Amino acid sequence: MPSYTIKQITIEEALPIRHKVMWPNETIDYVRLPEDDEGTHYGLIIDSNLIAVISLFIKGKEAQFRKFATLHEYQGKGYGTILLNAIMNIAAENNLTRIWCNARTSKTNFYAKFNMQLTPVEFIKGGLNYVIMERNFH
Ligand SMILES: CC(C)(COP(=O)(O)OP(=O)(O)OC[C@H]1O[C@@H](n2cnc3c(N)ncnc32)[C@H](O)[C@@H]1OP(=O)(O)O)[C@@H](O)C(=O)NCCC(=O)NCCS
Repeated sequence: MPSYTIKQITIEEALPIRHKVMWPNETIDYVRLPEDDEGTHYGLIIDSNLIAVISLFIKGKEAQFRKFATLHEYQGKGYGTILLNAIMNIAAENNLTRIWCNARTSKTNFYAKFNMQLTPVEFIKGGLNYVIMERNFH
């Protein structure tokens, strides 16, 4: 695996990857969240290229991660795992009690590898099925 770095990025840097990977047929504003200014955005960089992004929204002792995306050509190579593990470490270091996400149902097995558990909360948005998954730290 080539060497990589993980760092905080701006929302403007995160948006093109969100857009390309998640909702390429919508406008770029579709992947902008009203809460983006309150979030912290992280990226994984290889050879100066940003290839994966994730956004963390901390509220009190809990955090939600949203808009997790790896460029298609880099998917399935372990970069998403590295980035999500970094987020889990940040959550633990900040003494958060819980981290959660709205998981696409197709991704629940992936999140289970990070000790995230299914909750009973399921919903459909934009034609996709989601379930809330969570990990409790304390
Ligand atoms: C979800 C997402 C961010 C994961 O990023 P990624 O960089 O592909 O993540 P990884 O490569 O670490 O893991 C992806 C899969 O590849 C597997 N993998 C990781 N490294 C691997 C390797 N070297 N060889 C083979 N498989 C590998 C992982 O086990 C994982 O398998 P699983 O999905 O069956 O659990 C990415 O798939 C994505 O952008 N999807 C589209 C947007 C999306 O669905 N976002 C999440 C919404 S909830």
